Order: sequence, then C-alpha cells, then structure tokens
Amino acid sequence: MSSELQNDRLLKALLRQPVDRTPVWMMRQAGRYLPEYRATRERAGSFVKLMQNPDMACEVTLQPLERFPLDAAILFSDILTIPDAMGLGLYFVKGEGPKFERTIASARDVDALPRPDIEDELGYVPEAVRRIRKALDGRVPLIGFSGSPWTLATYMVEGGASKDFARIKGMAWEDPDSLDRLMDHLVASISDYLNAQIRAGAQAIQIFDTWGGVLTPTHYRRFSLEPMTRILENLIREQDGRRVPVILFTKGGSPWLEAMAETGCDALGLDWTVDIGEARRRVGDKVALQGNLDPAALNASPARIREAVAEILSSYGHGSGHIFNLGHGITPQIPPEHAGAMIDAVVRLSPQYHQG
Ligand code: CP3
Repeated sequence: MSSELQNDRLLKALLRQPVDRTPVWMMRQAGRYLPEYRATRERAGSFVKLMQNPDMACEVTLQPLERFPLDAAILFSDILTIPDAMGLGLYFVKGEGPKFERTIASARDVDALPRPDIEDELGYVPEAVRRIRKALDGRVPLIGFSGSPWTLATYMVEGGASKDFARIKGMAWEDPDSLDRLMDHLVASISDYLNAQIRAGAQAIQIFDTWGGVLTPTHYRRFSLEPMTRILENLIREQDGRRVPVILFTKGGSPWLEAMAETGCDALGLDWTVDIGEARRRVGDKVALQGNLDPAALNASPARIREAVAEILSSYGHGSGHIFNLGHGITPQIPPEHAGAMIDAVVRLSPQYHQG
C-alpha cells in the first residue's frame, strides 16, 4: 500500500507544516460540471449505481485530477450510504435530490436501527478506496469522508432534503433523549465507516456537517458538535507512520469556530460567510483552515475569479495552515475552465505567502 506520496502539500498544510504553496482541492470536484463525469454516470445508469461500482467510482474520482493540478483526490461516494445500509432505502428523484423510503419517526424506530457491518454491507466503499489508492500511485493523497451524525439524521428523520427541518427540530425540542440515542447510534456507525476507509487507505478525513448551521447554539453543541467530538475520539489517527488529519466542516458554523477548534480535529472547513483572516485570528494556531471562496464566484469571469482568489490568499496571509477550497460544493452549471482559473490562480499567487 505505502507507495511513496509524491505530493504531500495537503497533509502538511493540514498539520500547519511548511509548504511551497497553498494546496487546493474542491468539494464535489468529481461531479456534474464535468462532461466526462456525466458520460460515466450515463454509462452506469444512475448515480447510485455509479457510486456502488468501485471501478467506476475510481474512474470518476480521478477525472478532475486529469484536468487540473489539484493537491488531493476525494473518494467518490455519498454521505447517505450509511442510512441506506441501515435499511432506509435511498433513492434519488430528479430535481428533488435524495429521498428515503422509510424514515425515523419515533423512539421505537431509533432503537430498531441496526449497526451495519461495513465490510459486509458497505464493502463497495473500502473497495473503492483501495482501487483509488492503487490508481493514484502516490500522485496526491486521498480524502475519505462521512456526513456528521446531525446531517445524516436530518435526512433520516425528514425523509429527504428539507427547508425548515420541522420534524427533526420538533424532536430536538420535544424528545431530545430519543435524538441523543439516534446520535449515539450514528456516532458508532460513522466511526466504523471512517475507520474502514482509513484502513483501506484514506489519508485524510472530512466530516461534512452540511446542516449544523440551522441549529440554535445549545442544540448545535448537543446534537452536532458533541457527537462529532466523540467520532474524533474513536478514529484511527495514524496509519503507515503518518497522522491521518481530520477536517470538520459545519456549513453555517462560523459563530462556533472556537468551539469547533477544541474538538481534536486538525482543520476547520469554512463556508464563504466568514473572512478567513478573521477566522485565523479567532482560532490561533490550534487548527488549519480550509476554504472559502463563494462557489457562486465561479460564475464570474476568469479575471474576476483570480481577484477573488487573491483576496482570500491575502486575507489568510503568510505561513502554512491554509488549504484553498470553495466554501461549499461546486455547482453543476459552472464551466470547467472557471474551476481551472481558480486552481491556476492558487498555484501562481500562493507561493509568495510561503517564503522565508
Ligand atoms: O466532493 C466530491 O467530489 C466527493 C463526492 C461527494 C458526493 N456527495 C457526490 C455526489 C460528496 C463529498 C458528497 C457528500 C454529500 N452528499 C453531502 C454533503 C456535502 C456538502 O456539500 O455539504 C450531502 C448533503 C449529500 C446528499 C446528496 N447527494 C445531495 C444533496 C445530492 C444532490 C442531489 C441533486 O440532485 O442535486 C447527492 C447526489 C450526489 N452526490 C451527486 C454527486 C456528484 C450528484 C448526483 C448526480 O450525479 O446526479
């Protein structure tokens, strides 16, 4: 497994060690904005078939690396594999996003949830990780990922995407003890899942807390931050003689960065609503920071995109500990050349912040 890593900028920056330039990758970098992705998905028949086929998942994971000088690959999969393996029945409706056939509506439903055996029931995920590592052959590190317990729970209780989160927030107010038990359950399964990815070869981990930002501060601590902290305690943190850094990304989490930095993670993912220089002053040298270009900026001209990149690099300032990324996933209508302009600007403009 341990083919020598040729580009370890990402792993170094996540640990705030010196690098020659700021590393860059994009959330959803393997996705619908790439025509080659759409062609592979067509061949697979559906998104779910694509992610469950380790050879095809490997193929699309590598597609953005063939186009752009990215410093990381991210496993092609989805956060909703775990609830699917718990028997909830994942499917996608065009234009509406993910749905579940069965939802969690009561304390009894929570207690009846199984703890899936990862190699038996989600074996296609570690298998994809093994194939991707082999295909990468040390070019760049591979990031594994999972959703946070809170974010997975929103889909499991709401049955799909939601605007107001009425059911799960109702549960948080009315029956918090049942929600705590759902979190306990998800902490165990997500820890198993991420450790299986790490054993299979994932070299860094990102936890996507896409919906943590909709909570009150008290509920954020109880139902999002605290369960994520317990996952961090359960994870394998060293593999093949190297630390496996963990990135916590709560979208809408900027009010809570100081608390997030205390969880034992190595880096925080920032959305675009916070100034990265200000975030750096707030967290000090506790953690690295990843982000945070507004994904909508990629609709602008390449010249304007370069200015926007320059602004973020300058706001973070000198020294290591910054991983350039978008503040959320790249959206399907973005021309690939615009993503290329962003990446190129990071490559050209960031070395000046890493001298001396
Ligand atoms: O970043 C990457 O390149 C890795 C791949 C990745 C996917 N989903 C592929 C995907 C990752 C990291 C995810 C995580 C994910 N999935 C999240 C959290 C990420 C975040 O941005 O906060 C969430 C909330 C989901 C659930 C989910 N899966 C949604 C909302 C959708 C989009 C539905 C739609 O129709 O717009 C998916 C499907 C999905 N997952 C796609 C991709 C590329 C698009 C599916 C397609 O090809 O049609």
